[in-house]
Amino acid sequence: MTEILKAGKAGIRKAAAALKRGGVVAFPTETVYGLGADGLDPVACARIFEIKGRPHFDPLILHECSAARAKKLFSSVPPAAERLMKKFWPGPLTLVLPKAKAVPDIVTAGLGTVAVRVPAGRHALALIKAAGRPVAAPSANRFGALSPTTAAHVKTQLDGGPDIILDGGKTRIGVESTIITFARGVPVLLRPGGLPLEEIEAVVGPVSAPSRRAARPAAPGCLKKHYAPQVKLRLITPGAAVRPSASAAYLAFTGRPAGKWAAVKVLSPSGDLREAAAGLFGALHALERSGARVIYAEKVPQHGLGRAIMDRLRRASA
Ligand code: TXA
Ligand code: MG
Repeated sequence: MTEILKAGKAGIRKAAAALKRGGVVAFPTETVYGLGADGLDPVACARIFEIKGRPHFDPLILHECSAARAKKLFSSVPPAAERLMKKFWPGPLTLVLPKAKAVPDIVTAGLGTVAVRVPAGRHALALIKAAGRPVAAPSANRFGALSPTTAAHVKTQLDGGPDIILDGGKTRIGVESTIITFARGVPVLLRPGGLPLEEIEAVVGPVSAPSRRAARPAAPGCLKKHYAPQVKLRLITPGAAVRPSASAAYLAFTGRPAGKWAAVKVLSPSGDLREAAAGLFGALHALERSGARVIYAEKVPQHGLGRAIMDRLRRASA
Protein backbone atom coordinates (compact mmCIF):
# COMPACT_ATOMS: atom_id res chain seq x y z
CA MET A 1 0.00 0.00 0.00
CA THR A 2 1.23 3.45 -0.89
CA GLU A 3 0.20 6.25 1.42
CA ILE A 4 -0.12 9.71 -0.10
CA LEU A 5 0.69 12.53 2.31
CA LYS A 6 0.71 16.32 1.94
CA ALA A 7 4.28 17.61 2.26
CA GLY A 8 3.54 19.50 5.48
CA LYS A 9 5.29 19.10 8.85
CA ALA A 10 3.46 15.90 9.81
CA GLY A 11 3.88 14.34 6.37
CA ILE A 12 7.59 15.06 6.30
CA ARG A 13 8.02 13.67 9.82
CA LYS A 14 6.30 10.44 8.82
CA ALA A 15 8.25 10.17 5.57
CA ALA A 16 11.56 10.70 7.38
CA ALA A 17 10.67 7.94 9.84
CA ALA A 18 9.91 5.62 6.92
CA LEU A 19 13.31 6.38 5.37
CA LYS A 20 15.04 5.60 8.67
CA ARG A 21 13.26 2.22 8.76
CA GLY A 22 14.56 1.33 5.28
CA GLY A 23 11.37 2.42 3.52
CA VAL A 24 10.99 4.04 0.10
CA VAL A 25 9.50 7.52 -0.20
CA ALA A 26 8.67 9.44 -3.37
CA PHE A 27 9.21 13.16 -2.74
CA PRO A 28 9.25 16.43 -4.67
CA THR A 29 12.50 18.23 -5.47
CA GLU A 30 12.74 21.49 -7.43
CA THR A 31 13.49 19.47 -10.61
CA VAL A 32 11.31 16.31 -10.66
CA TYR A 33 9.94 13.86 -8.06
CA GLY A 34 12.54 11.46 -6.67
CA LEU A 35 12.11 7.89 -5.43
CA GLY A 36 14.10 8.00 -2.21
CA ALA A 37 15.67 5.56 0.21
CA ASP A 38 18.42 5.66 2.86
CA GLY A 39 21.53 6.17 0.70
CA LEU A 40 23.78 4.27 3.10
CA ASP A 41 21.46 1.23 3.33
CA PRO A 42 22.03 -1.04 0.31
CA VAL A 43 18.86 -3.06 0.88
CA ALA A 44 16.71 0.03 1.00
CA CYS A 45 18.42 1.17 -2.22
CA ALA A 46 17.71 -2.17 -3.86
CA ARG A 47 14.00 -1.53 -3.35
CA ILE A 48 14.34 1.53 -5.55
CA PHE A 49 15.54 -0.60 -8.48
CA GLU A 50 12.82 -3.11 -7.84
CA ILE A 51 10.08 -0.51 -7.83
CA LYS A 52 11.42 1.27 -10.92
CA GLY A 53 12.16 -1.89 -12.85
CA ARG A 54 15.49 -0.17 -13.57
CA PRO A 55 18.53 -2.20 -14.71
CA HIS A 56 21.19 -2.43 -12.05
CA PHE A 57 23.94 -0.82 -14.08
CA ASP A 58 22.27 2.52 -13.51
CA PRO A 59 23.79 4.35 -10.53
CA LEU A 60 21.74 6.59 -8.21
CA ILE A 61 22.12 10.21 -7.13
CA LEU A 62 22.64 10.88 -3.41
CA HIS A 63 20.80 13.91 -2.04
CA GLU A 64 22.10 15.87 0.96
CA CYS A 65 20.79 18.90 2.86
CA SER A 66 24.01 20.95 2.87
CA ALA A 67 27.24 21.20 0.91
CA ALA A 68 29.23 20.42 4.05
CA ARG A 69 27.41 17.10 4.49
CA ALA A 70 27.47 16.36 0.76
CA LYS A 71 31.26 16.71 0.63
CA LYS A 72 31.65 13.83 3.09
CA LEU A 73 30.33 11.49 0.39
CA PHE A 74 33.35 12.22 -1.84
CA SER A 75 36.93 11.11 -1.20
CA SER A 76 38.40 14.21 -2.84
CA VAL A 77 37.08 17.47 -4.28
CA PRO A 78 39.04 19.55 -6.82
CA PRO A 79 38.87 23.37 -6.45
CA ALA A 80 36.67 23.81 -9.56
CA ALA A 81 34.07 21.42 -8.11
CA GLU A 82 34.26 23.33 -4.84
CA ARG A 83 33.45 26.57 -6.69
CA LEU A 84 30.41 24.95 -8.35
CA MET A 85 29.08 23.72 -4.99
CA LYS A 86 29.48 27.18 -3.47
CA LYS A 87 27.73 28.89 -6.33
CA PHE A 88 24.92 26.46 -7.23
CA TRP A 89 24.00 24.38 -4.15
CA PRO A 90 21.25 24.04 -3.17
CA GLY A 91 20.12 23.77 -6.79
CA PRO A 92 19.65 21.63 -9.92
CA LEU A 93 23.32 20.58 -10.26
CA THR A 94 24.64 17.05 -9.67
CA LEU A 95 28.38 16.51 -9.26
CA VAL A 96 30.13 13.18 -9.93
CA LEU A 97 33.40 12.71 -8.01
CA PRO A 98 35.44 9.85 -6.48
CA LYS A 99 33.32 8.23 -3.79
CA ALA A 100 33.94 7.97 -0.06
CA LYS A 101 34.23 4.46 1.46
CA ALA A 102 30.85 4.71 3.21
CA VAL A 103 28.94 4.92 -0.09
CA PRO A 104 27.52 1.46 -0.94
CA ASP A 105 28.25 -0.06 -4.34
CA ILE A 106 24.63 -0.49 -5.20
CA VAL A 107 24.38 3.31 -5.18
CA THR A 108 27.21 3.69 -7.69
CA ALA A 109 26.52 0.46 -9.62
CA GLY A 110 30.07 -0.50 -8.86
CA LEU A 111 31.68 2.69 -10.15
CA GLY A 112 34.44 4.39 -8.18
CA THR A 113 32.57 7.67 -8.44
CA VAL A 114 29.32 8.87 -6.88
CA ALA A 115 26.74 11.42 -8.02
CA VAL A 116 25.62 13.89 -5.34
CA ARG A 117 23.45 16.98 -5.20
CA VAL A 118 21.86 19.34 -2.68
CA PRO A 119 18.34 19.99 -3.97
CA ALA A 120 16.76 23.44 -3.60
CA GLY A 121 13.20 22.24 -3.01
CA ARG A 122 12.20 23.11 0.57
CA HIS A 123 10.26 19.86 1.07
CA ALA A 124 13.23 17.82 -0.13
CA LEU A 125 15.62 19.70 2.17
CA ALA A 126 13.30 19.31 5.16
CA LEU A 127 12.91 15.59 4.48
CA ILE A 128 16.66 14.92 4.15
CA LYS A 129 17.36 16.94 7.28
CA ALA A 130 14.74 15.08 9.28
CA ALA A 131 16.00 11.72 7.99
CA GLY A 132 19.54 12.67 9.01
CA ARG A 133 21.20 10.73 6.21
CA PRO A 134 21.86 11.04 2.48
CA VAL A 135 18.82 10.06 0.44
CA ALA A 136 19.45 8.03 -2.73
CA ALA A 137 16.88 8.95 -5.35
CA PRO A 138 16.45 8.50 -9.06
CA SER A 139 13.50 10.16 -10.76
CA ALA A 140 10.28 8.50 -9.52
CA ASN A 141 9.18 6.94 -12.80
CA ARG A 142 9.28 3.41 -14.15
CA PHE A 143 12.52 2.70 -16.02
CA GLY A 144 12.49 4.31 -19.46
CA ALA A 145 9.29 6.26 -18.82
CA LEU A 146 8.80 9.98 -18.36
CA SER A 147 10.02 11.77 -15.23
CA PRO A 148 7.18 12.81 -12.91
CA THR A 149 6.58 16.47 -12.07
CA THR A 150 3.46 15.92 -9.92
CA ALA A 151 2.49 13.41 -7.22
CA ALA A 152 -0.23 12.16 -9.58
CA HIS A 153 2.42 11.23 -12.21
CA VAL A 154 4.21 9.17 -9.54
CA LYS A 155 1.01 7.46 -8.43
CA THR A 156 0.05 6.54 -12.00
CA GLN A 157 3.40 4.85 -12.66
CA LEU A 158 4.39 3.43 -9.29
CA ASP A 159 1.29 3.00 -7.11
CA GLY A 160 1.83 0.17 -4.64
CA GLY A 161 5.64 0.53 -4.89
CA PRO A 162 6.82 3.26 -2.51
CA ASP A 163 5.60 3.29 1.10
CA ILE A 164 4.79 6.98 0.89
CA ILE A 165 4.32 9.59 -1.83
CA LEU A 166 4.86 13.09 -0.43
CA ASP A 167 2.67 15.50 -2.38
CA GLY A 168 4.29 18.92 -2.67
CA GLY A 169 2.47 20.01 -5.83
CA LYS A 170 4.05 20.60 -9.22
CA THR A 171 7.85 20.80 -9.30
CA ARG A 172 9.24 24.24 -10.12
CA ILE A 173 11.91 23.45 -12.72
CA GLY A 174 10.40 20.40 -14.37
CA VAL A 175 13.53 18.80 -15.88
CA GLU A 176 16.21 16.81 -14.06
CA SER A 177 19.42 18.32 -12.70
CA THR A 178 22.43 19.06 -14.88
CA ILE A 179 25.15 16.43 -14.26
CA ILE A 180 28.85 17.35 -14.33
CA THR A 181 31.53 14.72 -13.72
CA PHE A 182 35.03 15.36 -12.45
CA ALA A 183 35.91 11.66 -12.75
CA ARG A 184 39.03 12.56 -14.77
CA GLY A 185 39.76 15.78 -12.90
CA VAL A 186 38.28 18.21 -15.44
CA PRO A 187 34.57 19.08 -15.72
CA VAL A 188 32.63 17.08 -18.32
CA LEU A 189 28.91 17.42 -19.02
CA LEU A 190 27.06 14.09 -18.62
CA ARG A 191 23.49 15.36 -18.86
CA PRO A 192 22.11 18.79 -19.70
CA GLY A 193 19.41 19.77 -17.22
CA GLY A 194 17.86 22.41 -15.01
CA LEU A 195 21.03 24.47 -14.58
CA PRO A 196 22.05 26.02 -17.93
CA LEU A 197 25.55 25.06 -19.12
CA GLU A 198 26.34 28.74 -19.73
CA GLU A 199 26.04 29.44 -15.99
CA ILE A 200 28.39 26.58 -15.17
CA GLU A 201 30.95 27.65 -17.77
CA ALA A 202 30.90 31.17 -16.33
CA VAL A 203 32.33 29.66 -13.13
CA VAL A 204 34.73 26.93 -14.35
CA GLY A 205 35.38 27.81 -18.01
CA PRO A 206 34.64 25.55 -21.00
CA VAL A 207 32.99 22.22 -20.15
CA SER A 208 33.36 19.39 -22.65
CA ALA A 209 30.86 16.68 -23.56
CA PRO A 210 31.91 13.02 -23.12
CA SER A 211 33.56 11.25 -26.06
CA ARG A 212 31.08 9.25 -28.09
CA ARG A 213 33.49 6.39 -28.49
CA ALA A 214 33.57 5.63 -24.77
CA ALA A 215 33.11 1.89 -24.36
CA ARG A 216 30.10 2.29 -22.09
CA PRO A 217 27.88 5.30 -21.62
CA ALA A 218 29.42 7.72 -19.12
CA ALA A 219 26.01 8.22 -17.50
CA PRO A 220 24.15 4.98 -18.13
CA GLY A 221 20.81 6.73 -17.64
CA CYS A 222 21.67 8.82 -20.64
CA LEU A 223 21.09 5.92 -23.01
CA LYS A 224 19.46 7.23 -26.17
CA LYS A 225 16.08 5.62 -25.56
CA HIS A 226 15.90 6.50 -21.87
CA TYR A 227 13.24 9.21 -21.80
CA ALA A 228 10.90 7.73 -24.38
CA PRO A 229 7.16 8.16 -23.96
CA GLN A 230 5.02 5.15 -24.87
CA VAL A 231 3.93 6.75 -28.15
CA LYS A 232 6.09 7.39 -31.22
CA LEU A 233 7.51 10.91 -31.24
CA ARG A 234 8.68 12.85 -34.32
CA LEU A 235 10.80 15.99 -34.00
CA ILE A 236 9.84 18.74 -36.44
CA THR A 237 10.85 22.31 -37.25
CA PRO A 238 8.29 24.82 -35.91
CA GLY A 239 5.81 25.67 -38.64
CA ALA A 240 6.82 22.68 -40.79
CA ALA A 241 4.02 21.38 -42.98
CA VAL A 242 2.62 18.33 -41.19
CA ARG A 243 -0.92 17.28 -42.05
CA PRO A 244 -3.33 17.58 -39.09
CA SER A 245 -4.79 14.23 -38.08
CA ALA A 246 -7.23 13.01 -35.46
CA SER A 247 -4.77 10.19 -34.62
CA ALA A 248 -1.81 12.52 -34.06
CA ALA A 249 -0.94 14.84 -31.18
CA TYR A 250 1.07 18.06 -31.44
CA LEU A 251 3.57 19.56 -28.99
CA ALA A 252 4.12 23.20 -29.95
CA PHE A 253 6.72 25.57 -28.55
CA THR A 254 4.91 28.92 -28.80
CA GLY A 255 1.90 28.78 -31.12
CA ARG A 256 -1.04 26.44 -31.73
CA PRO A 257 -0.95 24.58 -35.05
CA ALA A 258 -3.88 24.90 -37.44
CA GLY A 259 -6.35 22.06 -37.99
CA LYS A 260 -7.85 19.25 -35.93
CA TRP A 261 -5.52 17.09 -33.78
CA ALA A 262 -6.06 14.37 -31.18
CA ALA A 263 -4.51 16.77 -28.67
CA VAL A 264 -2.35 19.90 -28.69
CA LYS A 265 -0.06 21.31 -25.99
CA VAL A 266 1.74 24.65 -26.21
CA LEU A 267 4.86 24.79 -24.01
CA SER A 268 5.19 28.58 -23.74
CA PRO A 269 3.14 31.15 -25.69
CA SER A 270 5.76 33.80 -24.85
CA GLY A 271 8.71 31.59 -25.91
CA ASP A 272 10.12 31.31 -22.37
CA LEU A 273 12.36 28.21 -22.21
CA ARG A 274 12.10 27.97 -18.42
CA GLU A 275 8.30 27.81 -18.64
CA ALA A 276 8.63 25.29 -21.47
CA ALA A 277 10.93 23.04 -19.40
CA ALA A 278 8.66 23.21 -16.37
CA GLY A 279 5.69 22.01 -18.42
CA LEU A 280 7.51 19.55 -20.71
CA PHE A 281 6.90 16.23 -18.98
CA GLY A 282 3.35 17.17 -18.00
CA ALA A 283 2.58 17.99 -21.64
CA LEU A 284 4.13 14.73 -22.88
CA HIS A 285 2.18 12.74 -20.27
CA ALA A 286 -1.05 14.40 -21.44
CA LEU A 287 -0.34 13.85 -25.15
CA GLU A 288 0.58 10.25 -24.44
CA ARG A 289 -2.80 9.74 -22.76
CA SER A 290 -4.71 11.31 -25.67
CA GLY A 291 -4.69 8.01 -27.55
CA ALA A 292 -2.73 9.50 -30.45
CA ARG A 293 -0.51 7.10 -32.41
CA VAL A 294 2.21 9.70 -32.96
CA ILE A 295 3.28 12.94 -31.30
CA TYR A 296 4.77 15.71 -33.46
CA ALA A 297 7.07 17.79 -31.29
CA GLU A 298 8.49 21.14 -32.38
CA LYS A 299 12.20 21.76 -31.86
CA VAL A 300 13.05 24.54 -29.40
CA PRO A 301 16.01 26.97 -29.47
CA GLN A 302 19.21 25.31 -28.21
CA HIS A 303 20.34 27.69 -25.50
CA GLY A 304 19.73 27.78 -21.76
CA LEU A 305 17.13 25.18 -20.78
CA GLY A 306 16.42 24.62 -24.48
CA ARG A 307 19.37 22.21 -24.49
CA ALA A 308 17.80 20.02 -21.81
CA ILE A 309 14.43 20.11 -23.55
CA MET A 310 15.96 19.10 -26.89
CA ASP A 311 17.96 16.35 -25.17
CA ARG A 312 14.71 14.87 -23.79
CA LEU A 313 12.88 15.23 -27.10
CA ARG A 314 15.71 13.66 -29.09
CA ARG A 315 15.81 10.67 -26.74
CA ALA A 316 12.05 10.33 -26.94
CA SER A 317 12.26 10.26 -30.72
CA ALA A 318 15.19 7.81 -30.91
O1 TXA B 1 16.99 16.22 -10.86
C1 TXA B 1 17.46 15.09 -10.69
O2 TXA B 1 18.66 14.83 -10.89
C2 TXA B 1 16.49 13.99 -10.21
C3 TXA B 1 16.00 14.38 -8.81
C4 TXA B 1 15.15 13.32 -8.19
O3 TXA B 1 17.11 14.68 -8.01
N1 TXA B 1 17.13 12.71 -10.20
C5 TXA B 1 17.42 12.04 -11.33
O4 TXA B 1 17.99 10.79 -11.12
O5 TXA B 1 17.21 12.47 -12.45
P1 TXA B 1 18.13 9.67 -12.25
O6 TXA B 1 18.57 8.45 -11.53
O7 TXA B 1 16.87 9.55 -13.01
O8 TXA B 1 19.30 10.14 -13.13
C6 TXA B 1 20.61 10.11 -12.59
C7 TXA B 1 21.63 9.99 -13.66
C8 TXA B 1 21.56 8.67 -14.38
O9 TXA B 1 21.68 8.92 -15.76
C9 TXA B 1 22.78 7.94 -13.84
O10 TXA B 1 23.27 7.03 -14.75
C10 TXA B 1 23.73 9.10 -13.59
O11 TXA B 1 22.91 10.08 -13.06
N2 TXA B 1 24.76 8.79 -12.61
C11 TXA B 1 24.59 8.51 -11.31
N3 TXA B 1 25.77 8.22 -10.73
C12 TXA B 1 26.71 8.33 -11.68
C13 TXA B 1 28.13 8.14 -11.71
N4 TXA B 1 28.81 7.79 -10.64
N5 TXA B 1 28.75 8.34 -12.87
C14 TXA B 1 28.07 8.70 -13.98
N6 TXA B 1 26.74 8.88 -14.00
C15 TXA B 1 26.07 8.69 -12.88
MG1 MG C 1 15.48 9.32 -14.49
